[in-house]
Amino acid sequence: MSNCRRLVISFLPLFVALLPCGMSGTQNQPLRASAEQRGFFIGAAVAVSPFRNEPIYRETLGREFNIIVAENAFKWDSVRPSRTTFNFRDTDALVDFAQASNMKIRGHTLVWHNQIPGWLTNGNFSRDEVIAILREHILTFVGRYKGRVWAWDVVNEAVDDSTGGLRTGSFWYQKIGPDYLRLAFEFAREADPGAKLYYNDYSSEGLNTKSNGVFNLVSSLKSQGIPIDGVGWQMHQVNGFRMQPANRTNAKRLAELGLEISITEMDVRINLPTTPEKLAEQAQAYRDAINFCLTEPNCKALLMWGFTDKYSWIPAFFSGFGDALIYDMSYQPKPAYFALKEVLEQGRQQRSPANYDESKVGAYTLPDPLILNDGKPVRTATDWTKRRRPEILELFEAKVYGRSPQPPKDISYEVFDLDEHVLDGKAIRKQVTIHLSPKKDGPKEDLLMYLPTGSRKPVPMILSLNFSGNQAATADPRIKLATVWNPRTHEKQQASEQSRGRAQDPIEKILARGYAFGTICYQDIEPDFKGGYVHGIRPPLFKPGQTEPAPDDWGAIGVWSYGLGRALDYLEKDKDIDSKRVAIMGHSRLGKTVLWAGAMDRRFAMVLSSCSGEGGASLARRNYGETIRNLADAFPYWFCANFAKYADHADQLPVDMHELIALIAPRPVYVTGGETDRWADPKGEFLACVAAGPVYRLLGAQDLGTDQMPALDQPIMQTIAYHIHTGGHAVTAFDWDQFLTFADKHLRAH
Ligand code: G3I
Repeated sequence: MSNCRRLVISFLPLFVALLPCGMSGTQNQPLRASAEQRGFFIGAAVAVSPFRNEPIYRETLGREFNIIVAENAFKWDSVRPSRTTFNFRDTDALVDFAQASNMKIRGHTLVWHNQIPGWLTNGNFSRDEVIAILREHILTFVGRYKGRVWAWDVVNEAVDDSTGGLRTGSFWYQKIGPDYLRLAFEFAREADPGAKLYYNDYSSEGLNTKSNGVFNLVSSLKSQGIPIDGVGWQMHQVNGFRMQPANRTNAKRLAELGLEISITEMDVRINLPTTPEKLAEQAQAYRDAINFCLTEPNCKALLMWGFTDKYSWIPAFFSGFGDALIYDMSYQPKPAYFALKEVLEQGRQQRSPANYDESKVGAYTLPDPLILNDGKPVRTATDWTKRRRPEILELFEAKVYGRSPQPPKDISYEVFDLDEHVLDGKAIRKQVTIHLSPKKDGPKEDLLMYLPTGSRKPVPMILSLNFSGNQAATADPRIKLATVWNPRTHEKQQASEQSRGRAQDPIEKILARGYAFGTICYQDIEPDFKGGYVHGIRPPLFKPGQTEPAPDDWGAIGVWSYGLGRALDYLEKDKDIDSKRVAIMGHSRLGKTVLWAGAMDRRFAMVLSSCSGEGGASLARRNYGETIRNLADAFPYWFCANFAKYADHADQLPVDMHELIALIAPRPVYVTGGETDRWADPKGEFLACVAAGPVYRLLGAQDLGTDQMPALDQPIMQTIAYHIHTGGHAVTAFDWDQFLTFADKHLRAH
């Protein structure tokens, strides 16, 4: 097998991960997989008894849903057997299950007039005592799961159906008065500042007395500065239900208040006996609801009140009704299940069909990198460096990749391995742990280095980011096995012994040409899945009081770039390396990363970017292959949150990717594409290189010298370089040969 073929194979799993939905085959995909691709939460309420006793119940939950809520286990009568005791047995089990299954969990509920224990209602407590009991309950309960419960129904069903005012007969109102709502929300925020705080109610989704009452209540809470983040619509419906324009109007007015919504308890009860027609009608109700959620930007989740008809509250509460959920009593999916599945999957395809037809690309106008924001032309290199470059960089920070914080100064390193006689005496191997923050027990990355022996001067380096661990670079048993993340369970695990040498990096060739080789696993820096940021360097660098990324805060690409920057900080201190001649290399999402790292950090001498595609070198405005919409649906966390605003409006993005390349100017940059990697739009990558040309010329460097796309395997190598290789989404041996020739030309190793 040729080297090239092996390299192609080693990237196959990533290629499959990047396939557009229509190409990847979703027949057996559970609901949560499609939901996750869209950044949406689909879930169910859990009844503790079958959860503990019926394996199929638990398996179905874990497989199909990415959010749960307890049907009863979080309520007062379950959690508080007495004033002085808490019973967290079931709540612990559910929170642990959610975490182990990489799900969110909602906490239902902290204040409700039902299911309150007798010791509280009959206790003859004073107002102050009840407030103290409520405070203790919320601080203890919410505090116990701080950072682990995604959202709390802080108050449930406080509004009276017929008046729209507060329900005055409830225990809480009777004892505390209307102030109980404020107190409950404030206690909850105090206990977990990071949890979303919801008001939850039934019959509140349309426009009627009840929903107006809910709207007035939450408006008033908001205007008083009481901490509330969302409104839950329970949506216990009768078959025949359809979403109405009124639901949109209601969602919009809540969004204008700055509140999100979730459908929290949906079920659609059927007047028994059930018939195929009734099931089809029920499916339509669920279809409507999920469609609504996926097209209403502030709807974050849809949960059903259970998932199997075997366990539903309906028969006990509504005589003659039942079968309200999406699985039947034997755990068989019903038409309603398939309706949810279809919308979750198809919706995505409909929104983003990939175009592979050149005649349908359409016209577009690229922003001119040499016109200042005030409309004046950039005439000199100084204009560019002092004025225009900062403007473009700012736009990429604010709208695309997010702002990366300045690294702390006092970061330390440990060289934990040094062998001066490896690869038959041709190389020195070093392994260095680089801390990413001043905290030694915080995130860190391992840099693997091979240096050519016998060089009397510091050598230039090719520094790559790798996907699956440094041990994959070469089959050297002394290389530390990386800690990687299981892509399915999102758990940490040690890379396998079998993964050693799988990537087949051409280390000996690189060394023979006089370069050192360095590599870092991107998973060290931050795991590559939605929500993975909590395990990386972002939270330790949050501003005081910050609990989640701001819309212009760095995404994963910025974080991975930060890892490269810290490696360069280390290399500046390593006397064996000429840190002024370090080229960075990455493939695919890491091809995007090296472009952004090179754009931000001018210490990098050269950028080698393989098949970087959309969000990398490909022009966003060119409608071919992957689009911003695809990225926003599948990988929103790679970018700052603001980027998703351009998902369906690439033309409104104030920059395009030729300007990303221009930010690297006048340093050399090499962009590659693959013949069959149409998803990454190799022509769009080429055209971005062409359009970066004027900036390179202005700075006295060379542009590509042509606007004609070259034939396969015909490199154009100026200060900007480009080729399209035979084959697909991969780094090939041919690519490496060109990268080394390019490095020889610009880094002058010899
Ligand atoms: O805990 C006792 C148990 O000891 C006893 O053996 C059993 C006998 O029936 O009853 C058990 O309590 C029941 C409890 O559910 C747990 O199963 C209660 O009688 C029963 O009333 C209670 O019903 C719950 C209901 O809230 C209480 O109002 C339902 O399961 C639950 O689905 C329902 O959930 C509410 C949400 O919290 C708020 N929105 C509406 C929704 C539906 O009513």
